[in-house]
Amino acid sequence: MSAHGDPIPMVSRKGPALTGVAEVPGDKSISHRALILGALAVGETQVTGLLEGQDVLDTAAAMGAFGAEVVRHGAGAWSVHGVGTGGFAEPQDVIDHGNSGTGVRLVMGAMATTPISATFTGDASLRSRPMGRITDPLALFGAEAHGRAGGRLPLTLVGARSPAPVRYTLPVASAQVKSAVLLAGLNAPGETIVIEPEATRDHTERMLRGFGATLFAEDSAEGRVITLQGQPELRPQSIAVPRDPSSAAFPVCAGLLAEGSDVLVPGIGLNPTRAGLYTTLREMGADLTFENEREEGGEPVADLRARFSANMKGIEVPPERAASMIDEYPVLSVVAAFAEGPTVMRGVRELRVKESDRIDAMAVGLRAAGVEVEEGEDWWIVHGRGMGSVAGGATVESRLDHRIAMAFLVMGLATDKPMRVDDGGPIATSFPIFEPLMSGLGAAITRANS
Ligand code: S3P
Repeated sequence: MSAHGDPIPMVSRKGPALTGVAEVPGDKSISHRALILGALAVGETQVTGLLEGQDVLDTAAAMGAFGAEVVRHGAGAWSVHGVGTGGFAEPQDVIDHGNSGTGVRLVMGAMATTPISATFTGDASLRSRPMGRITDPLALFGAEAHGRAGGRLPLTLVGARSPAPVRYTLPVASAQVKSAVLLAGLNAPGETIVIEPEATRDHTERMLRGFGATLFAEDSAEGRVITLQGQPELRPQSIAVPRDPSSAAFPVCAGLLAEGSDVLVPGIGLNPTRAGLYTTLREMGADLTFENEREEGGEPVADLRARFSANMKGIEVPPERAASMIDEYPVLSVVAAFAEGPTVMRGVRELRVKESDRIDAMAVGLRAAGVEVEEGEDWWIVHGRGMGSVAGGATVESRLDHRIAMAFLVMGLATDKPMRVDDGGPIATSFPIFEPLMSGLGAAITRANS
């Protein structure tokens, strides 16, 4: 079942070369944060380029439920009239975050140090994901969580009445956990300190500084130490959201795999904490260039040009790169299937607790398409068959996971026989224009029964 309706079976098949310009939507991570920090600022924040995917729309609704005034003015153009740090009102109803781990985890952090209660839920995927990684550090601030066994949603969070600041070392490399702690720290007096042994995406830190919070980050023997001064008055901002490198991955990889293709994907955010896939593809021998490199809104940005790459080689992906490409392993594993030799991916245990168990979901579908895959708890190896040698012809379950659906639809553009996914509905969570955008490049991706 799709997250918000009947399943949408989809199919992709080999077709003409892909050509043209793919304007992918705004960054999902930055869009969530713009809405949440806008809601915690005093006055009106303007956002352009906001991703209007279901995950972000659910966060927008949540901010409304906590008392902010969130208004859509036109495509991607939104304003948020914030209530100030500590100003959240108690929601009148359950907050439904749909499919979005980022949405629910960041919003729990943002309310945890305000003396109100809120009950959170989500779809079947989100209700199966671990929340203890968030509620454990929030308990140190004085918040109380009452959820299902194993810390699953639905869950009621009772915000701390007299929050204490926290010093917390991340037990998992997770920007969601880091961000939840920093957002909770906003309404605690004194300094909240987060130590991350492995660097993860730093959009929260960048944006907090932009909103006027005092935040320092420095490297130490323990890792990156991030110190936030509590109880700032956040000043409203104008935020131009860059285009999402995690969404760009799909037209870029499609361009590398479909014979004769030449695809331009302009204006992609290439923050080093997000760009690991592109480094990896270039190491594999992809014909991928960065053009017009520039800085926009404090983030590095470039136009990506991907051309058909017949001779890519499997590589060992450095485990320390995992956090900077954690959402890109599904589509990387598809590219790896068409490369020569094995692609080895280690240090990726986190893939097992995403919207689906992404190692299992990809391994099952790749094997059904004729590709050999080995796997362990925190590693997997895709044995590439070389370009033109992957059978395809499988129907794959997307398991309520947008990136699994899009990865297999990209795969079908280069397999001998078409690839089908049982439900393309979840794609709307992060990339609502995926179908028209890919069709515009010439890709044969359609609804199965159309
Ligand atoms: C995100 C962080 C990552 C990523 C998710 C978005 C964020 O999750 O997988 O899609 O915006 O902070 P983790 O922090 O749990 O790795």
